[in-house]
Amino acid sequence: MSLTLASTVKLNNGLDLPLLALGVYESPTSVEKSRYALQLDYIDLYLVHSPLAGASGRHEAWLALQDAVKEGKVKSIGVSNFSPAHIEQLLKSEGVYIQPAVNQIEMHPWNQQKEIVAYCKKEGIVVQAHTPLTQGKKLGDPMICGIAKKHGKTAAQVVLRWLLQQDVVAIPKSENPGRIKENADIHDFTLDQKDLDLIATLDQGQNGSVTIWNPWTIE
Ligand SMILES: NC(=O)c1ccc[n+]([C@@H]2O[C@H](COP(=O)([O-])OP(=O)(O)OC[C@H]3O[C@@H](n4cnc5c(N)ncnc54)[C@H](OP(=O)(O)O)[C@@H]3O)[C@@H](O)[C@H]2O)c1
Repeated sequence: MSLTLASTVKLNNGLDLPLLALGVYESPTSVEKSRYALQLDYIDLYLVHSPLAGASGRHEAWLALQDAVKEGKVKSIGVSNFSPAHIEQLLKSEGVYIQPAVNQIEMHPWNQQKEIVAYCKKEGIVVQAHTPLTQGKKLGDPMICGIAKKHGKTAAQVVLRWLLQQDVVAIPKSENPGRIKENADIHDFTLDQKDLDLIATLDQGQNGSVTIWNPWTIE
């Protein structure tokens, strides 16, 4: 698979999203507040952070985001921590005419999110993995460390490469310049089928999560 730091994935609105994103910013509560805080004319991608607002809250937020797209303030809109049921419900709601371009969910080898990934692929929604490095908590895993040793890479690099090979966008966070470089240096090796088969065995579903976010338990 030929991946580079410049690799992008095509969103369902025709725009391109980087496959590996190394930045992070606070998420204010409205598009206007965000544009002001970011000092930007427009925002490339704006997400509804979670399904917690309930069906009517999600619907209301989405209509506001559709307006922001229409006004040119936002290029692409998406959701985060949404299950397929949340997305289906939203798409059936009155006045909804833009499909989410992205669903950002916790994803890494210990929570492989197979059902949400399959649904999003079928629907043309790009999956973006938050907490891709498990906040560092699982990087000592002996199997991942073994695969890392075999390729002369680090555990973090193996986990990020695995995500990219699943066609999933990764957004690792680091405040350390050396690690930011390390996290970007994942385009000179490929995980082979044996590696992928081993990593497949690490999946614990939601039990493997390190954050509170569980798309399946929110109404
Ligand atoms: N949508 C949501 O609900 C949601 C929820 C959680 C997170 N997020 C987003 O997901 C992104 C990442 O989240 P996160 O920071 O919680 O998790 P993460 O990227 O999995 O982990 C970051 C932690 O890992 C360390 N780290 C980074 N690179 C490393 C490396 N190469 N080797 C070892 N340790 C390394 C960092 O420490 P150093 O800084 O010291 O390198 C930091 O403590 C952020 O943009 C965040 O906003 C979204």
